[in-house]
Amino acid sequence: VLCLIIVVGVAFSYNFWNDVTGLYGHLAGVPKALLPGIGGRKVLDFWWETVNTRQLFSEVYLVTNADKYKHYERWATANGFPVENVVNDGTTTLEGRLGAVADLELAIRSRRLQDDIMVIAGDMLCADQNFDIAQVIRFFRSKPGELVIYYELEEGEKSSSRGIVEVCPDTHRVTCFLEKPQQGRTTSRLASVVFYCLRRETLPYLSRFLSLQPCVQNRTLGLFWEWLINEEKVPVFGMKLPTGFQLIGQVGLDDYTKWLARYSAKQQGSAGKPISYRSYARVGLMGNPSDGFHGKTIAMTVSNFWAEVTLTESQSLVLLPHPLNDPTEFGSLQDLYCISCKEGYLGGLRLLQATCKKFYQFCSEQGIALSKQNFTLKYDTNIPRQVYKFFFPFFSAIVSATLKCLMKFFNITDRDLPKPIRANFILNVETDELFITAGLQDRVVQVYEGLVYMDFSKELMGKRGYGEYIPMDMRDLPTFWLAYLGDPSDSGRIHSNVRQRWLNGNFPRSALERKDWPRLAELMDENFELRRSVYTEECLGPGNLKMVQLARQFGSSVKLPGSGGAVVGLCLDSERLDAFQEAGCVFCVIVPFSPTTTSSQCRN
Ligand SMILES: *[C@@H]1O[C@H](CO)[C@@H](O)[C@H](O)[C@H]1NC(C)=O
Ligand SMILES: *[C@@H]1O[C@H](CO)[C@@H](O)[C@H](O)[C@H]1NC(C)=O
Ligand SMILES: *[C@@H]1O[C@H](CO)[C@@H](O)[C@H](O)[C@H]1NC(C)=O
Repeated sequence: VLCLIIVVGVAFSYNFWNDVTGLYGHLAGVPKALLPGIGGRKVLDFWWETVNTRQLFSEVYLVTNADKYKHYERWATANGFPVENVVNDGTTTLEGRLGAVADLELAIRSRRLQDDIMVIAGDMLCADQNFDIAQVIRFFRSKPGELVIYYELEEGEKSSSRGIVEVCPDTHRVTCFLEKPQQGRTTSRLASVVFYCLRRETLPYLSRFLSLQPCVQNRTLGLFWEWLINEEKVPVFGMKLPTGFQLIGQVGLDDYTKWLARYSAKQQGSAGKPISYRSYARVGLMGNPSDGFHGKTIAMTVSNFWAEVTLTESQSLVLLPHPLNDPTEFGSLQDLYCISCKEGYLGGLRLLQATCKKFYQFCSEQGIALSKQNFTLKYDTNIPRQVYKFFFPFFSAIVSATLKCLMKFFNITDRDLPKPIRANFILNVETDELFITAGLQDRVVQVYEGLVYMDFSKELMGKRGYGEYIPMDMRDLPTFWLAYLGDPSDSGRIHSNVRQRWLNGNFPRSALERKDWPRLAELMDENFELRRSVYTEECLGPGNLKMVQLARQFGSSVKLPGSGGAVVGLCLDSERLDAFQEAGCVFCVIVPFSPTTTSSQCRN
């Protein structure tokens, strides 16, 4: 059982009505929580809608002072809030006020509450009031302590105006609470707001605090938490709401009008505006693509091939099947048979679903509360269907583009999900959820984008779970080309049945850095020879060997860019592409994708 207490109107005058415009005269005396917002909804209505939708609380109380009591009584009647649960603290003046901690204690004592409680300020507002309060409760229940909600201060918001928390990123325990710290006392930009959960056994701390703080100025919730965490060492955990908060504390007309403007702009602007992200295919330029072997590799994203995911805010949550890749209608049973034989069951729909699932799980475990807003996801890709499973990381491209959309939509930042961890996340979607065997390389390149050096050294991987990833200069790259088999059935079985040890050889990072292309070409050839010796020709398959042979015949260096089915080469006279085409291959010049420049099209 969990009891909710909404604290409102404990501060008296906001000096709100220094209204020189005269526009807001009719609002004089209206408490902040009941100021009209967008669409006739008041600040408090947003909270009431959030908490009232499901049976999450055993009881709900609202604490106010005698001065504003009438307003809240009226509001309660109009909104189906139990009027008898509006607690009146009896005070009518600023000088006579009790302080927020005393108000809270009054509600608990007078109503003999003996359950865990959640406390929120009904007169502040968060940018996204649609978040999932059940998720907050679950996180609280999973932790052996109290819970405070925090958000990351927006630029320009001063930490000296808020209760600042320092939170351990692994355990999510609040290690320090600083009420309105002076500049320089902390680098943390995480601000706690009046949104807490307290366990029943912690409630007696409220009256202990009050007995220590006879003076009303000091009976603030911020100072209570500072004392509870820093002095009493009560375990308190933090959950992040990836959204801004407004109208906190003593605000003026300015803040109110700004808030109104922001909300109407948001309502008009963002509703239905789609979020789209692309992730690009990669080619492995150096090293071994099967990076389960703790080796080093260099790979590059190419704009020739991409997967794009689009997220649109919507009434209900929908994952749209792709008309070609997730067929649900067929010409006939025979048609279904042929398509299934040829293409298998490699659609992207389940990737969208698995990514969403893992994303929710990740945020729940990390203490990041999510919006409840629904959305529609769809995807498209130009990655040639017949080659998905051979060399282009189609799966990881869809997963990584989906993840970008979800992060944007839910306001999850790089700090919440840093790049190296994001690559692991993408890999885990594939391996844990979909049982796809894969390595980290593709995911790292897709997250970082561009030309990336990766060292998956056993030591680093063992110690911190990810390798060293270094973006490299992409200027003046030579022209690379790519050829792949039109019919991939003879592309060999490199991935499936060879368990290979890592052979490092000469690693060409410095050749690339020095832009020594002849040396790079040599090293690519060496790389292929090494693979040939490890895997044997039979494993490489006749198709791969044929493409290598053709390339060499024309004086181009060449290697396999992935697990077979394609070859990547350097500096081929483009007139020679006919030969590849006659041999039944598809040939294209690689257009490197750099995260900082724009791309052009593949010629094929
Ligand atoms: C409020 O608390 C601070 C710090 O604990 C103390 O220095 C100050 O004297 C207190 N103020 C009053 C009026 O008791
Ligand atoms: C996302 O965060 C930014 C910065 O804190 C904020 O301005 C914006 O309103 C947030 N959006 C949502 C949907 O929460
Ligand atoms: C999300 O969709 C479900 C199913 O259509 C619906 O019941 C729910 O109210 C929607 N949530 C929001 C926040 O719109």
